[in-house]
Amino acid sequence: MPAHRTAPALVPRPTEATVRPGHFTLDRSTALHVGAGAEPAADLLGSLLAPATGLSLGPSPDGQFALVLDAGLGGLGGLGEEGYGLTIDPHGVLLRAAHLTGLLRGIQTIRQLLPPQALSATPQRGTRWLLPCVDITDVPRHPWRGAMLDVARHFQPVSFLRRYVDLLALHKINVFHLHLTDDQGWRLPVAAFPKLTEIGGHRAASPQGPAGSDTYDGVPHGGAYTRAELAGLVRYAAARGVTVMPEIEMPGHVRAALAAYPSLGNHPERTLDVWTRWGVCDTVLGVHDEVLDFCRTVLDEVMDVFPSPYLHIGGEECPTTEWTHSPAARERAAAEGLPNPEALHGWFLGKIGDFLVRHGRRPVCWAETGAELPPDFTVMTWRDPAHTLTAARRGHPVVSAYHRATYLDYAQSDAPHEPPAQPGPVVDLRSVHAHAPVPEDADAQAAGRVLGTQAQLWTEFVTTPAHIEYLTYPRLCALADRGWSGATGWADFRSRLDEHTARLDALGVHHHP
Ligand code: ACM
Repeated sequence: MPAHRTAPALVPRPTEATVRPGHFTLDRSTALHVGAGAEPAADLLGSLLAPATGLSLGPSPDGQFALVLDAGLGGLGGLGEEGYGLTIDPHGVLLRAAHLTGLLRGIQTIRQLLPPQALSATPQRGTRWLLPCVDITDVPRHPWRGAMLDVARHFQPVSFLRRYVDLLALHKINVFHLHLTDDQGWRLPVAAFPKLTEIGGHRAASPQGPAGSDTYDGVPHGGAYTRAELAGLVRYAAARGVTVMPEIEMPGHVRAALAAYPSLGNHPERTLDVWTRWGVCDTVLGVHDEVLDFCRTVLDEVMDVFPSPYLHIGGEECPTTEWTHSPAARERAAAEGLPNPEALHGWFLGKIGDFLVRHGRRPVCWAETGAELPPDFTVMTWRDPAHTLTAARRGHPVVSAYHRATYLDYAQSDAPHEPPAQPGPVVDLRSVHAHAPVPEDADAQAAGRVLGTQAQLWTEFVTTPAHIEYLTYPRLCALADRGWSGATGWADFRSRLDEHTARLDALGVHHHP
C-alpha cells in the first residue's frame, strides 16, 4: 500500500474515510467485545478470519475489538439498515451500526483493510495482521445492489453458489438473484410436480460455436437442487447479509416445464423436448385454470423455501402466437373482457402478482417496455435505459439492469483470446463503472423509485465455475462501486481495483486480467 494514502483502497469506496498514522494489531491477545444482538456478526468475523490467520477471536467483556448495535444510529440521515461506522486506533477497534446488516457490511470492510493474505483459505504464517488506523462512516447510495446468476442454462452445484455468495458479500452486493427455471432447464424441486426436475432438469445437448450456428454438441447435462440445499443456501447468504431472490419464469421461458407436463401448454397432446437452442422460444404456458393452479403451487413451494420479500416471475420475451391461434386462449381473453389474446400477457402476470401480494410478497418482472406491467410490480429494466424512467414515472420501484452495462455474458474485451461469449458488442469494465442507475432527467419522485442496479450472467455459453468467475470479476467490482458508492472517478476506481486484485487473487478468484 502506498505510504501516504489519504483513503484506504476499498471496493466499494466508503462514503467517508480518513486514514491516520499507526495501526491496530490483531493477534492471539485480541478479544471481541460483542454487544447485545451482535453475536451473528462476531460469528461471521471469526469464521472469515480463522482459516488464514488461525485466530479464534473469542469474546470478552473488556475485549479491545468491539461490535456494537445502537438503534439510535439508524434514523433519518443516519446509518440506516446497512450503514456502519468504524474507528480503528492503536488500542482498539469499534464497529457500530444501527442494524445487524450494517455490522455485516463493516466486517467486509475490516477484511479488506487487513493484508490481502487474510482472505486466503489456508493458514498464512509469518504475516502480521495489521489494521490501519481509520475513521470510516459508510452508507450505501442504493438499497438494491444485485447479481443474477442463471443456473437454468447450465446447472452449478450449491457449493459453488455459496462461494459466489461469499464473493458478493465481500463487495457489499445484497441481492443474489437466482434464475432457477427457463426453456433449457428447471432446477427447483416442487413436491407436487416431480417431473419438473426429473424431466425438465436435463437436456440432450447445447449449441456449439457462435450463437445461431445451429450445431449442437450432443452432450447431455442437467441437475437440480434439493429443498435442503436451497434452504441452506438461503441461511448461508442471510448470515452474510445477502438475500437470495429466486426467479421462476412465466408465462414464457417455460419449455422445460412443458417438456415435463405438456398439459400446461397450449397443445396438451404435443411432446416437447427441454430446449437445446438459445433465443426466444415460442412455446408458452396456456391460460386455463390448471396452469394458474400450477403456478400458485410452485410459488407456494418457493415461498416456503425463500423468505425474500421480492420474488421474480420473469415475464419477458413471451410470444403470444400460440394464444392467438388457440381457441381456448381466445375464449379466455374474451371471457376476461380483454381486447385481444396479446393482452393475456398482462392479465396472466396480474393474476400471479395479486397472488404474491396476498401472501405478503412483492412480485418482480423483467420489463419489455417499462409501460406494460400491473402496478404492484417491481420492474427490472434491461432493454433500453429509457424504460427506467418510464417505469419509475408510472410508479413502479425499478432496478436498472440495462444490458449494455450490466450483462456480464457479453465479452469484456475484443481481444482474440476471449472465450466465446454472447454475441453482441463488448461490455467492458469502464461501461459497467459508468452505468448510472438513476436517469439524468428523472425528477426527485421518479429518482426515488430507482432502487439500484444489478449485474446479469446468462450462462448458455458459460459452463464452468471458472468461466463464471472470469466473466464476473472484476466487472462486478465496478457495479458494486456504482451501487454502493454512487459515481466514483474512473482513475480512483482503477487505482483501488489494482490493490483489490490482490484480494481476489488471495481468494483464488479466476478473474479477467
Ligand atoms: C432477459 O435478458 N431475457 C431479461
